[in-house]
Amino acid sequence: MGKFQVIDHPLIQHKLTIIRDKNCGTKVFREVVNEIAMLMAFEVSRDMPLEDIEIETPMGKSTQKTLTGKKVAIIPILRAGIGMVDGMLELIPAAKVGHIGMYRDHDTWEPVEYFVKLPSDIDTRQLFVVDPMLATGGSAILAVDALKKRGGNNIKFVCLVAAPEGVKALQEAHPDVDIYTAGLDDHLNDDGYIVPGLGDAGDRLFGTK
Ligand code: URA
Repeated sequence: MGKFQVIDHPLIQHKLTIIRDKNCGTKVFREVVNEIAMLMAFEVSRDMPLEDIEIETPMGKSTQKTLTGKKVAIIPILRAGIGMVDGMLELIPAAKVGHIGMYRDHDTWEPVEYFVKLPSDIDTRQLFVVDPMLATGGSAILAVDALKKRGGNNIKFVCLVAAPEGVKALQEAHPDVDIYTAGLDDHLNDDGYIVPGLGDAGDRLFGTK
């Protein structure tokens, strides 16, 4: 089973409370989502491999560490995932960005893939799939399906708020995918919203509705 981690650093918990507040406006919501994503990037990249290189400091030759191994791609699930991209790029500026678009079918409530644009070499990259809310897990599962179908094999899922139902569903469908969240909430309500959650992340990010 992949790793499941609540990143409960005090700065992240504090910022999550700010965006949960229904009186938090679009500007601050957007800024703080990016700040949390940046802080989470620090933790989700913790196991990036290092190798030794020879350098010369002003004092002479020295062996030091440098990042090696897989390059990174950040894959937001449209549309709310876009809100986390700039924050993650602050810490991993060389990452490529792919996009996966999904809509929810009005009759079946199942997510349907409508747009996939990815770097050509996803099979050699560490992939961070980002979406602020892991609710039923339907979109996350489909996004990981879409990546695996195209050769992706090293996938981590990064969200801000998760429901236990979504974590379970994603773990069952994709046990190899590590899941990181800033908050693990109580449950989903009958409309598929996370409680207490923060409402509709896309609407709050983009000021729609
Ligand atoms: N998507 C959201 O934006 N919010 C939820 O609570 C659940 C899914």
